[in-house]
Amino acid sequence: MGSAVIEVRGGLFLLSTRSTSYWFRLTEHGHLEHLHYGPYLPAQDADALRVKRELEHGSGVAYSPDDPAYCLDVIPLETSGIGQGDYRLSPIEVAHPLGFDTDFVYAGHRLLDGTVPHPTLPTAEAGEHPDVQSLEVTLADELAGLELTLVYTVFADTDVITRRARLRNTGDATAEIARLASLQLDLPDRGFTIRTLDGGWIHEAHAHDRPVSSGVFSIGSTTGASSNRHNPGFLLLSDDAGEDHGWVYGVNLVYSGSHEARVERDAHGSVRVQSGIQPQAFRWPLAPGEAFESPEAVLAFSDEGLGGLSDRMHRFVHAHITPARYRGVERPVVYNSWEATYFDFDEKRQLSLAKQAAKLGVELFVIDDGWFAGRSDDTAGLGDYTVDAKKFPSGLRAFTKKVERLGMRAGIWVEPEMVNADSDLARTHPEWMLRVPGKAPREGRHQQLLDLCNPEVCDYLVDQVGRLIDDGGFTYVKWDMNRHLSDAYSPHVAHPGMTAHRFVENLSAVLERIFAPRPHVLLEMCSSGGNRFDLGMLRFAAMIWASDDTDPIERLEIQQGLSYLYPLSTISAHVSASPHQQTLRDTPLSTRFNVAAFGCLGYEYDLDFLTAEERREITEQIEFYKLHRRTFQFGRFRRGARPRPDRFLWQVGEGDAAIVGNFQRGVRAAPERDVLPIAGMRPGIPYRIVARPQRLSLDRLGHLINHVSPVRLDPGGLVMNVVSKHRSLPDGVEEYRGTGEMLDAGIRLNMQFSGTGHHASMRMLGDHGSTLYVITREDDE
Ligand code: GLA
Repeated sequence: MGSAVIEVRGGLFLLSTRSTSYWFRLTEHGHLEHLHYGPYLPAQDADALRVKRELEHGSGVAYSPDDPAYCLDVIPLETSGIGQGDYRLSPIEVAHPLGFDTDFVYAGHRLLDGTVPHPTLPTAEAGEHPDVQSLEVTLADELAGLELTLVYTVFADTDVITRRARLRNTGDATAEIARLASLQLDLPDRGFTIRTLDGGWIHEAHAHDRPVSSGVFSIGSTTGASSNRHNPGFLLLSDDAGEDHGWVYGVNLVYSGSHEARVERDAHGSVRVQSGIQPQAFRWPLAPGEAFESPEAVLAFSDEGLGGLSDRMHRFVHAHITPARYRGVERPVVYNSWEATYFDFDEKRQLSLAKQAAKLGVELFVIDDGWFAGRSDDTAGLGDYTVDAKKFPSGLRAFTKKVERLGMRAGIWVEPEMVNADSDLARTHPEWMLRVPGKAPREGRHQQLLDLCNPEVCDYLVDQVGRLIDDGGFTYVKWDMNRHLSDAYSPHVAHPGMTAHRFVENLSAVLERIFAPRPHVLLEMCSSGGNRFDLGMLRFAAMIWASDDTDPIERLEIQQGLSYLYPLSTISAHVSASPHQQTLRDTPLSTRFNVAAFGCLGYEYDLDFLTAEERREITEQIEFYKLHRRTFQFGRFRRGARPRPDRFLWQVGEGDAAIVGNFQRGVRAAPERDVLPIAGMRPGIPYRIVARPQRLSLDRLGHLINHVSPVRLDPGGLVMNVVSKHRSLPDGVEEYRGTGEMLDAGIRLNMQFSGTGHHASMRMLGDHGSTLYVITREDDE
């Protein structure tokens, strides 16, 4: 990159990152014409990039009688209004005394160093990077009495540009906003496919592709949260894009509430992309002099395919989204008691689990839901975080001290935004719940929502959660949210259409007030798993529980989906018991670890029933993870191109060292010969590739055991049962050598079990099998 981050030359606005350029210009009528978003361009005359117009368009509406060929419908625009001849979707819908007509024309601009603070929502921060700069372009519609400011921030180091919109009422009557998109991007169509991350509870963030074609495609959430239905982040792939080549655009929002993205392809070959707050049931009255500001949208571009795009988004999250207190800080290995004990709590049991967890190498012990008074199932107690003397007779601090004595940190689960009707809080403050006057509030998981539009409720939460953390000596909090928004009426806002958004604004303030003064407390977000996996929450939390689904075969899909936009340091992943509680699928312990290692590792397991073999295996897993933790959490992540849909390839690290995971969801008879490509290693340098030693449980072999055992065993019998608890076969004894360019071409792996016998170096993958390969420089050894 040769020039400044933002340059304004005459009417030309040039925004540059390390390897991308975003250009727009002022037209002769005062509109902002988008010129280019793509590979870096040195500053120069931009005429080649503007839309050419010689004559008017058939059935077009001319903007000005003096210039019949100036038709807004065919110009790529940074923003648009209603009623001026642009019939594509408008990013703004505001009712004012003269109707819905808006025509925003240039009024001025200013450049600012760093970022521009948002009055009510979190935004990306500059961090320690001097090359962060912002541009505000103000446009005005004097007749409507409105002023629109577009705020751009360029994060040159990570190739990201953010955008948001601020609307001010400069008239003398109240206006009402029904839509104010954060982002509008008009691009020439490159045969785009849109990739979105969709799903639901226990099947979040599955990637889906659809071609962008005539008409409008939209995704969004109406649940009050970013939701497990459609993540606010999505990708646009040009027709030739793959993991390591082609043009890819990425869009995301620093927002945790209901959102909407729309992609419209028009008849002129232009694709309009918008993203912002969900307009359904959203209304924001603006009194004279007042302003409203949209959440911040995040944009990235890569001409190095999906992998390049993910790398930019990951570096951006690490440098500009993750709160400074967690930036680059390794996440601890967690034990969470949820799947082991559910609501069945007593200190003795928890301590016995803690002792076992500490021996395995766990660093943080978390007591999940059920620890507090009145909570023996999910029908009661939520809202009253007072310690239950029967469950913890000597109190929480005595318990956390015992955990600390075992060499671990202590963490706690809370769900502060919610209450059970059967709770002291609901009985004392029935007026604190969201409810439509005259209607009984709807319940989800037997719980109602606190009215966070009420400042008194917010103060209470700040005080209550703060006290719980301090008094209990906790250094980790899992903040849950287990239902969607309903009954969105609050007497504390001027219009019911403000409720859902004000809830998110106030939640942000509550999180800031609790956690900013307690930098030693690690915050993990959760919402029935990944129901709130978004950049809005990641401005406060180090990581997010990705899914209540701990089956690794399901997790492959979920974690791969999230990896398009979110780095592994934000994805919380646990090893749990098999058959899995969500699917009844049986998976090897090695694969459960191999998948969870590509994230923030934890265990969520009834440790009382571990066999000696499993204990040994888990201890080795945790040791291995700690050794490579920095690479797993902060190394460059790549998804390998998948030769078969049942195979996943994940790589972390590059250059001197890397780890590659090879995952096989389902086995085929006489499996194909697998090739393992390893990217980003140095040409000419010799490397050693070694499979992480893992254990093959004897009971996985069934009858086959009699082909290797000196004595005949009944595969389902007692002897076999006892033997497999204490003995296993070494699995994954593989070693290869090659230079960087050979690794890039792909190592041909040893053969898989093919029904013809067993050999020590054979890959015994079967269904759900996997291997981690550790790649190191041979000349370093
Ligand atoms: C949600 C979370 C789980 C667990 C339970 C407790 O489902 O996602 O991890 O904390 O709540 O009720």
